[in-house]
Amino acid sequence: MSYNNAISIQSDSRTRRTRMTERMRNLVRETHLEPSNFILPLFVSDRSANYRNEISSMPGVFQFGIDHILRQSERAVESKLGGIILFGITDDKDETGSSAHNEMGIVQQTVREIKKRFPELLVATDVCLCEYTSHGHCGIIKEHDGGEFEIANDETVEELVLEALSHAEAGSDLISPSDMMDGRIGAIREALDENGFEKLPIMSYSAKFASGFYGPFREAAGSSPSFGDRRSHQMDPANGDEAMRVIERDIREGADIIMVKPAMSYLDIIRRAKDEFTLPIAAYQVSGEYAMIKAASANGWLDEERVMMESLLSIKRAGAQIILTYFAFEAAKNLRS
Ligand code: PBG
Repeated sequence: MSYNNAISIQSDSRTRRTRMTERMRNLVRETHLEPSNFILPLFVSDRSANYRNEISSMPGVFQFGIDHILRQSERAVESKLGGIILFGITDDKDETGSSAHNEMGIVQQTVREIKKRFPELLVATDVCLCEYTSHGHCGIIKEHDGGEFEIANDETVEELVLEALSHAEAGSDLISPSDMMDGRIGAIREALDENGFEKLPIMSYSAKFASGFYGPFREAAGSSPSFGDRRSHQMDPANGDEAMRVIERDIREGADIIMVKPAMSYLDIIRRAKDEFTLPIAAYQVSGEYAMIKAASANGWLDEERVMMESLLSIKRAGAQIILTYFAFEAAKNLRS
């Protein structure tokens, strides 16, 4: 038998045919990114209007005063981003995080200013107490005898409801609770409806894992817990079934968009959510994911542009059509060129 006959290749095994040329690859490409898929996280500080402080572990990401935030907002419109999400940075902290629902708080003021100037920009607001509590926890602390502490669920939900309402009143387009207390989606939905905001949607950080990849964010948001950790409310990275249960619960309580966070280590969760539910799915490419790509690229170990686009494409392929990413401007620029 001749060599040729022995390894005659079946015609259907020639998968390289559709990879041979750029035009063919373009034709068969299954996943496409668009700037409208991206939501840019922005940290707004109340220090001063032109405050600007680069986060050391997140090159290119800043804590900004309101003037800079307005400029970023204009760029977000020009870049046709899906939107921005605001995190408030303040030294006005107390035990219960009461400045979170101050109508003159930094997030509330900033939303009003942005919506005045750029009404077409989608402005989401992160609802959590950790940026506003003196101890850096996402909720109200109850101390038990013997020094054990607990984040009190229902008391925290009451504060979150006030925060969500104050964001709604300021003009937020998308209320985004990231705290992981039980029952907060239902409570926020009910309060919004009762106050005339029945048309305002909620994006729930539903499957939010207790992740080491949030490290750089806590520097950015000044929200590191001064003791303990977040494992009593954020999810165990080992649990996929539980993620589905929590997502289902949030949908039942009134979530309009569900989120998986972080993204890259949880692509299986994104895919399961996409297969099991029909709501829009968001994924948060978190600070640590951004920092890894930036650091390796700065060392010349990775091609930043390529890896950035590949990571975002993977998240979309997994099933998330909305991606919260610090790369939003850079990725949108890449897509334009
Ligand atoms: C909590 C919140 C966190 C992030 C978004 N919202 C931090 C945390 O749970 O500790 C992390 C985002 C990131 O790492 O980029 N308000």
